[in-house]
Amino acid sequence: MSIEWKITRNQKPMPAADREAVLEAPVFGAVRTDHQVVCVWEQGKGWTSAEVIPYGPILMDPAAAVLHYGQEIFEGIKGYRHADGSIWTFRPFENAKRLQRSAKRMALPEVPVEMFVESLVKLMEVDGDWVPAPVNEKTLYFRPFEIAAEDFLGVRPAHRAEYRVIASPVGPYFTGGIKPVKIWIALDSARAGRHGTGEAKTGGNYAASLQAQTEGYEQGCSQVMFLDAETATYIEELGGMNLFFVFKDGHVATPSLDGTILHGITRDSVIQLIKDRGIEVQERKITLDEMRDGINSGEIVEAFACGTAAVITPVGQFLSKNETIGSADAEPGQLTVSLREELTGIQYGTVEDRHNWLYKLA
Ligand code: PLP
Ligand code: COI
Repeated sequence: MSIEWKITRNQKPMPAADREAVLEAPVFGAVRTDHQVVCVWEQGKGWTSAEVIPYGPILMDPAAAVLHYGQEIFEGIKGYRHADGSIWTFRPFENAKRLQRSAKRMALPEVPVEMFVESLVKLMEVDGDWVPAPVNEKTLYFRPFEIAAEDFLGVRPAHRAEYRVIASPVGPYFTGGIKPVKIWIALDSARAGRHGTGEAKTGGNYAASLQAQTEGYEQGCSQVMFLDAETATYIEELGGMNLFFVFKDGHVATPSLDGTILHGITRDSVIQLIKDRGIEVQERKITLDEMRDGINSGEIVEAFACGTAAVITPVGQFLSKNETIGSADAEPGQLTVSLREELTGIQYGTVEDRHNWLYKLA
């Protein structure tokens, strides 16, 4: 049974001239659109309402479970303006399914796939003007999220939850253009352990990454690379992106999904695009030693990070408290640049969408 949507328009939206000024040079997450989605779930009743309402603060009891026990999950997905003015998104069913897997892990109710996709469509009915023109990697970033909203201090899954979507116009996540970034290798902190929550897109994983990220910022790095929690031997992923390595003989390798890293949708798409070119992609364990030796010997010729926010970003150098690997002056790799062009081309509708990844929102 599909749920009835109620839409209440914001009577005081941002004036068009101000919005256009924001869309000229949007800063990731800094300004949100005029509306938000809010859907309520109650134990024993299921999803009881689905609304688009004016953007504004959440009125929440200080005892709400999310504030105490971190029962929270989220997604990241973008809206792309095409040359004919239409608005599209990329593989939304994958995000919907991942939100469901995160919900299961964090004992939250699952948002039906149809409701997830509809929530983006409904938001675009009122906030479509917030999707920037398709230049300079500009998009509208959607942040769907789910929180435990019951006011109750006992430790158990909440009996009331909210699914919300907010949206923010964004430019490139890394402001330096397609310049290789520096990555800090976290040696003293781990992000996720075996049977932990690493596969779930839940706030706590990001909170756990911030101490190392702060160390990394102090060293001029823009992201942190985490190793496996048990042995600190194997490369897992960055704080908010997956990693790939391109080898001299042409093959590509990326850490396998062994339960502790996020199943990136960009990662999955990049694997497909590489395979489409007839290039071998290995999903396997990669040790820090292999990466260091490979970069130093020239066996590894490119490294890149990928994710919805970061798209595909070349990595030039890896730093830790013990060593520096790679060069600060590294140029972006050829495969990295060409995959990035292909992926963004598909997303903006200028390259054929041969895998039917795009979904029209408006
Ligand atoms: N890994 C982490 C920890 C992330 O937060 C993200 C971003 O969403 C990714 C990987 C990449 O996932 P996706 O490509 O689905 O955005
Ligand atoms: C995304 O890419 O959507 C994320 O959630 C990662 C974060 C760095 C913003």
